[in-house]
Amino acid sequence: MKVHFQPHCCHRCSIFFGMGVLLCVVFITVNNNFPTAERKLQKRQPANNSEWNWLIPAFTAASPQTTKVVEMCSPENGMQDIPSHIPASHQTFLRYKHCRSFPRLLSPTPCENDLFLLMAIKSTAIQVDRRIALRSTWGKRGYIQGKRVKLLFLVGKSSDRIQEYPLQQLLEWESRQFGDILQWDFHDSFFNLTLKEIHFLNWFSLECKWAQYVFKGDDDVFVHTSNLLEYVKGRDPSDHLFAGDIIPKAAPIRLKKWKYFVPVEMYPGKRYPPYAGGGGYLMSRQTVLSLGVAASSIDLFPIDDVFVGMCMQNINITLTHHSGFKTFGFKKVVSQFDPCIYREMMLVHKLNPTEMWTMWSLLRDPKLKCSINT
Ligand SMILES: *[C@@H]1O[C@H](CO)[C@@H](O)[C@H](O)[C@H]1NC(C)=O
Ligand SMILES: *[C@@H]1O[C@H](CO)[C@@H](O)[C@H](O)[C@H]1NC(C)=O
Ligand SMILES: *[C@@H]1O[C@H](CO)[C@@H](O)[C@H](O)[C@H]1NC(C)=O
Repeated sequence: MKVHFQPHCCHRCSIFFGMGVLLCVVFITVNNNFPTAERKLQKRQPANNSEWNWLIPAFTAASPQTTKVVEMCSPENGMQDIPSHIPASHQTFLRYKHCRSFPRLLSPTPCENDLFLLMAIKSTAIQVDRRIALRSTWGKRGYIQGKRVKLLFLVGKSSDRIQEYPLQQLLEWESRQFGDILQWDFHDSFFNLTLKEIHFLNWFSLECKWAQYVFKGDDDVFVHTSNLLEYVKGRDPSDHLFAGDIIPKAAPIRLKKWKYFVPVEMYPGKRYPPYAGGGGYLMSRQTVLSLGVAASSIDLFPIDDVFVGMCMQNINITLTHHSGFKTFGFKKVVSQFDPCIYREMMLVHKLNPTEMWTMWSLLRDPKLKCSINT
């Protein structure tokens, strides 16, 4: 079986994709400066805050409500200035980053009126076993503690095949069967994850903005759903909340062989703004809507977690670190697979589907006894 994410990234992508830049940041901000995100959505003009404007002088960002669907988005002209030492994958990213709006291919069942927690999980067509595990374990839809929970998978378009069969048919079946696939017509590659982010934010602000909280994560994390619900108990979704595994001062990786390499021309700064490890983080409705407004005016950046950090900085929302978001997994000293530890966590990265099922069953074992020391 061949897995093509993109020509220059190949198999390492899937490994690194999962490992991610997992930073957990939890931001809690109560900011009354924002009237409502929707109003800003209409009022806000594109900002000239791009660090790469030298590359695309004529670049202007589009707001989500005015963006026309780009059927065939062609590479940006006038990009001859891209220095040749920039890797081909980065060049592709730069040539296409003005393409910010793609048609939707598959839609989920509508968000219910009483939706409390939306769990939006980045997935790719080939990861069907992960989706199946999530649907039956921590992502099971329905009510938890009396709160309605909905699972959603965010996918792009993949050229992967099983034998000679394109995986699009599988996604279409899943969509009919489970109603939890949200898919757009762009190539599902690592560098297009930011595209996934802005499309999701746009969809949310149009079709699901009454959901009270949003968990956004990868498809290889184990989430303790009821701990998330516990955490937001007594909070107001119209206050800002951004909680995760926060990386406060990450430096851009300047070594070409790394997946997260970013040449100085693309980001001249010494540090990224604080951002949350992409394994998973939790936001209030207010924060998601504000993030959507900010994202529509900020240039795409190839690392989606960092892009979200840039947006959060743009709207001055504080990220709150919570140690229960283990987006980098555990340090070696603790047993990695102890249900007593998982019981206390919000999220643990990274589990395969079998481990997911196993942990789920361990946690539900009525005989589970945890000593005070664990
Ligand atoms: C945007 O910023 C760049 C660099 O800071 C500047 O050279 C350029 O004139 C600005 N463009 C607009 C339209 O304000
Ligand atoms: C992102 O998706 C678009 C549309 O499918 C594609 O043209 C572009 O090459 C992709 N970009 C990257 C960096 O993979
Ligand atoms: C964020 O804070 C900066 C500096 O305090 C300020 O200039 C800017 O207007 C603020 N932005 C928003 C969206 O509130």
